[in-house]
Amino acid sequence: MGRSILSLLMLALANAAVAAPDRSRQNYIQFCAGCHQLDGSGSPGVGIPDMRAQLGYFLNSPGGRAFLVQVPGSANSPLSNAELALLLNWMLTTFSPAQIPASFVPYSESEVRQLRAQVPAAVDELRRQVTADLQRQGFPVN
Ligand code: HEC
Repeated sequence: MGRSILSLLMLALANAAVAAPDRSRQNYIQFCAGCHQLDGSGSPGVGIPDMRAQLGYFLNSPGGRAFLVQVPGSANSPLSNAELALLLNWMLTTFSPAQIPASFVPYSESEVRQLRAQVPAAVDELRRQVTADLQRQGFPVN
């Protein structure tokens, strides 16, 4: 009796680990939407970029891919590396699915850990370099 309850409990725990729910939408609402708006439209007039039909372009440049992790709102959030990886993957597929290159490999916990550990001093300068590079490649990034 006691043993079967224990094995049921262990089975339940194992399933919970496999099917850990993706809390990205809730994390976005809690930590990002206050500035970026629920639909990702931001407030361009006060410097909060519209991420809709834009975010995916950044994946076409290694610096752009790094930038999405290293921008202060991402890097300085209270989210773990694993949570931030899932959140960025969710934001990309939610706000900018058509701009994601076919070769896209989702962010992983270890990639986010590395990028967060080497944030450049001038992230805004990184964005300027990245957008200039993307525009040269022909991507209509704002
Ligand atoms: C206090 C307001 C604020 C919050 C909260 C915020 N951001 Fe931002 N975010 C900005 C601003 C302003 C920019 C423009 C770049 C900059 O100045 O940092 C930006 C830019 C970005 C960009 C780059 C978009 C682009 O086109 O340059 C990403 C990605 C991003 N934020 C992700 C996040 C994530 C993820 C969260 C939540 C975990 C978050 N931000 C929370 C204000 C915010």
